Amino acid sequence: MPSKKDHYSSRFPDAQLKVFTISESLRRHLYIFKTTTGVFSYKKLDLGTKILITHMDIPQGSCSLLDLGCGYGPIGIVLAYESPQSNIYFIDRNRRAIWCVRENIKLNLPHSQDRLFVYAGDYFHPLKNKSVKFDSIYLNPAVRQGRQEFLDLFKELPEYLKSNGFFEFVLRRKMGAEYVFNYLQQKYPSNHIHIKCKRSGYWVFRYSLSDEG
Ligand SMILES: C[S@@+](CC[C@H](N)C(=O)[O-])C[C@H]1O[C@@H](n2cnc3c(N)ncnc32)[C@H](O)[C@@H]1O
Repeated sequence: MPSKKDHYSSRFPDAQLKVFTISESLRRHLYIFKTTTGVFSYKKLDLGTKILITHMDIPQGSCSLLDLGCGYGPIGIVLAYESPQSNIYFIDRNRRAIWCVRENIKLNLPHSQDRLFVYAGDYFHPLKNKSVKFDSIYLNPAVRQGRQEFLDLFKELPEYLKSNGFFEFVLRRKMGAEYVFNYLQQKYPSNHIHIKCKRSGYWVFRYSLSDEG
């Protein structure tokens, strides 16, 4: 059984450090990602992440987009490539993941570094005292050790989403996707949640503060 510090959500994983390089074609563009032991899905892009990336809506123009729990950064790096005028924020608590994101930005987007912002810390915490609100936020949440921390994020969304902003996330059906859907519908009835698609046992959700009609 791995220790708590071996889990990919720990701040300082203690697994022996090994660096890997993986390549992946996403939305018809080839990316190279550096990953390390102790970081989520370091040997291969996670299928849930891939499904979210394939189906996510990407605002265009000068927007602010957030890759929350970014891991080694695949979601945010695709956002930055696909929305070239936007500012992209990356947040993760795992310091090895943060090292990987910085490397992956240099590898994949060497000329975009001035519009990409990388923060180590717990979910929205690094944004406290920064007056930033997002057009969209994306997450493949860590729910294996319990989903309460993920569900608590919804209380904070109004502080960080623009009034017409949206939050897209992916959940495995077996990891409680249906429960989360029902919970959000009951707990936030005036907000809007819908399932964008179901693929290979994963459900992609879109949640917005207002009914998008
Ligand atoms: C399922 S992984 C997804 C990683 C990456 N987005 C991907 O798709 O490959 C969830 C990520 O959330 C991070 N995480 C978990 N709890 C967190 C928290 N409280 N604050 C910030 N990041 C967190 C983990 O370190 C991990 O990198």
